[in-house]
Amino acid sequence: MTRTTPEITEQDSRKVVLVTGATSGIGEGIARRLAAEGHHVVAGGRREDRLTSLAQSIRADGGSIDVRRLDVTDRADVARFVDETVTARGHIDVMVNNAGVMPLSRLDSLLVDEGDRMVDVNVKGLLYGIAAAMPHFQRQSSGHFITIASVGAYSVVPTAAVYCATKYAAWAITEGLRQEADPFIRVTTVSPGVVESELADTITDPGAAAAMKDYRSAAIPPDAIARAISYAIGQPADVDVNELVIRPVRQRP
Ligand SMILES: NC(=O)c1ccc[n+]([C@@H]2O[C@H](COP(=O)([O-])OP(=O)(O)OC[C@H]3O[C@@H](n4cnc5c(N)ncnc54)[C@H](OP(=O)(O)O)[C@@H]3O)[C@@H](O)[C@H]2O)c1
Repeated sequence: MTRTTPEITEQDSRKVVLVTGATSGIGEGIARRLAAEGHHVVAGGRREDRLTSLAQSIRADGGSIDVRRLDVTDRADVARFVDETVTARGHIDVMVNNAGVMPLSRLDSLLVDEGDRMVDVNVKGLLYGIAAAMPHFQRQSSGHFITIASVGAYSVVPTAAVYCATKYAAWAITEGLRQEADPFIRVTTVSPGVVESELADTITDPGAAAAMKDYRSAAIPPDAIARAISYAIGQPADVDVNELVIRPVRQRP
């Protein structure tokens, strides 16, 4: 028996993809790859100079991108980021909740404000992203949530208790979302190991910063994560890639 593959139209395969935290590292890599593949990217982050140069560079290569200043700790701002895109483009296809910070330290260093910031960005920012896109996905009867969690969602190491807690939470929220979501909504958790980015720049504790230098020396490029996302969103609508863990081959924990 011959099986025929349903034809993928240009409209089906070109998606409107929102990416939070696209001013550096993994988010920037996702924006660059997906734009290069013909998707329309909407990139958010707080550093407007980075957003401007990202847009210039992607457009110079023929890609389609809108950029907007975004603070994921501000629920109304996240809602506007999504709503404005729906107004401008008519619909949205993929919400990549990527923005994150990682100011590592031991709990006894009492850097409580930094813990608060990780909860605000890594957990509450994710919840705001889900809440902003959900009504549109439900109205459209389609949509894809992608959470950038971490290998820190699976085990804890010293100095990373709070960071890992936020990533365990991101994993749990996203898995719960997958189980609860309407059957036409796809949900993917992507958990990177060490990837080249500016993430370790948020560490102020000298001991934690020194330990990270060795740990991060095996880093792989952000495009390794972007390729995984391209794979997940490129599946037919009835296929949901739920979880991907991507480490450098040399990385052990
Ligand atoms: N690199 C790794 O080894 C690794 C491993 C596992 C997981 N991850 C995860 O990957 C994600 C991306 O991190 P990265 O490694 O690419 O680090 P990065 O280069 O530091 O990028 C972090 C991004 O998050 C944005 N961001 C931070 N606070 C924000 C806020 N309040 N509102 C909006 N955007 C905000 C930053 O933009 P602005 O500062 O311009 O706002 C930046 O674009 C994070 O969730 C991180 O936990 C990274």
